[in-house]
Amino acid sequence: MTAPMIAMNGITKSFPGVRALSDVSFDVRAGEVQALVGENGAGKSTLIKILSGVYHADAGEVHMNGEAVHFAHPVESLRAGIAVIYQEFSLLPERSVAQNLFLGREPRTRLGLIDTSRMRAEAREVLSLFAAAGHIDPDSLVGSLNVATQQVVEIAKAVSTGARVVVMDEPTAALNETECEELFATVDTLRNRGVAIIYITHRMREIARLADRVTVLKDGEVAASFDTLPSPDAIVRAMVGRDIEDFFAPKAKPDEIGDPVLTVRGAGNDVLRDIDLDIRAGEIVALAGIQGAGRVALAMALFGEAPFATGDVTLAGEAVSFRSARAAIAGGIGLLPGDRKSEGLVLMQSVRDNGMLTSRAFAPLWTSDQRNDNADTTRMDALLDQMEIRAASYEQDIRALSGGNQQKAIVARWLSMRPKLLIFIEPTRGIDVNSKAGIYHLMRDLAREGAGILMISSDLPEVIGVADRVLVMQSGRIVAEFPHDASEQDIMHAATAETEVAA
Ligand SMILES: Nc1ncnc2c1ncn2[C@@H]1O[C@H](COP(=O)(O)OP(=O)(O)OP(=O)(O)O)[C@@H](O)[C@H]1O
Ligand SMILES: [Mg+2]
Repeated sequence: MTAPMIAMNGITKSFPGVRALSDVSFDVRAGEVQALVGENGAGKSTLIKILSGVYHADAGEVHMNGEAVHFAHPVESLRAGIAVIYQEFSLLPERSVAQNLFLGREPRTRLGLIDTSRMRAEAREVLSLFAAAGHIDPDSLVGSLNVATQQVVEIAKAVSTGARVVVMDEPTAALNETECEELFATVDTLRNRGVAIIYITHRMREIARLADRVTVLKDGEVAASFDTLPSPDAIVRAMVGRDIEDFFAPKAKPDEIGDPVLTVRGAGNDVLRDIDLDIRAGEIVALAGIQGAGRVALAMALFGEAPFATGDVTLAGEAVSFRSARAAIAGGIGLLPGDRKSEGLVLMQSVRDNGMLTSRAFAPLWTSDQRNDNADTTRMDALLDQMEIRAASYEQDIRALSGGNQQKAIVARWLSMRPKLLIFIEPTRGIDVNSKAGIYHLMRDLAREGAGILMISSDLPEVIGVADRVLVMQSGRIVAEFPHDASEQDIMHAATAETEVAA
């Protein structure tokens, strides 16, 4: 048998206070997808950063095509043909697709000028390799494309520079259902072209759809490696060390649902039309819809960031009209944003302080004496424990946490505030299965304590598993409502079917 494209042997890596990887061996062959899975903080991203030369292993070796390689810097691994598609793209938003594809290696005329027509033609050729890129105009600005399309451009760029190994670290985290399908088609194309693919994900459905082999990391060690596609249960067992029963929390019983916490009547603004909405104490309402349907706009209107221009809003029996997030938070609304890096985290702070940030900022002044601070700290630590946040200590800088653990710290922050209405946007993006189950149960506990919950999610199994009611939006309106046992087909259909729009 030929040597694997990449073989990592006995990789060990420690950070101050944490052993991130110990004696990990891992390989991937040309023309296959090797899925790398494991709980938040298991060491997946660290392993990839060692492969690409961002970090240096304390021990162990990397072989490429049978030869030992040492990459001191990501530029060197890229030159050797290893492309890592990060969630923060390396593309330049204010340049065109073609300019991005050929950045630094533009085709030139004999006079040494950039040959734009040849560049455009070659860009078309590269893009044509990918079904999902068929509609991309080489002249469009990258910044004007949606995330999924930018990702295709990034992958096309990797392939056109001769990448033989493509690594994707949670590539679907920011994609909707349709965009995910496009990405899967792109992965199929890469595999058929003989590229070796390392694919990191927390979603079992993606593993089933894409993976040829699966390696499971747990606490920095290889917990299992499967040479054929294992069952989801087998993967979860290797990841978590046991089966997960009750992945979703039970739905609300009729007598657990109380009076309306939030009532919206005839509300609208530039984006939203005729919004009527009730969320009652004790219930979790999911908001489904395709990108641009107005789900986030509705959340932002309720949260005072992009307020309604017309209509009436009542929160816990009082008429309100929040004109800022600060006012909404003071009034009892919490919001957990989907994009943890840009919106949710103060990256310089410790895990514990970050968790307590909001409750501190908005607590009445008289509670912020030292005694209460200690009580707050104890309560926050209990919550962080309950969420099984993996950190060397809660004093640690939040930046050093794995992606999923950062998300859990933000969830803990809002849970500690006990808001009347809590809005979750993509609450489990990037979160491992075990912690997902933990978040679903915490959401349900919060509802039982009397909060109303509005959840925006693009993950349909999550919508169906969690919600007591599902509302579907399209073009700024709520167009359909389903009870807790809606099917994926019903929701997809309502989200995409042409609706009659009154003149
Ligand atoms: N630069 C760093 N400094 C200190 N600790 C770090 C650093 N990078 C990672 N770690 C720690 O190493 C461990 C592994 O983190 P890593 O990011 O590899 O996890 P992961 O498997 O990618 O998790 P996730 O699914 O949440 O992305 C974690 O405990 C993390 O806190
Ligand atoms: Mg990671």
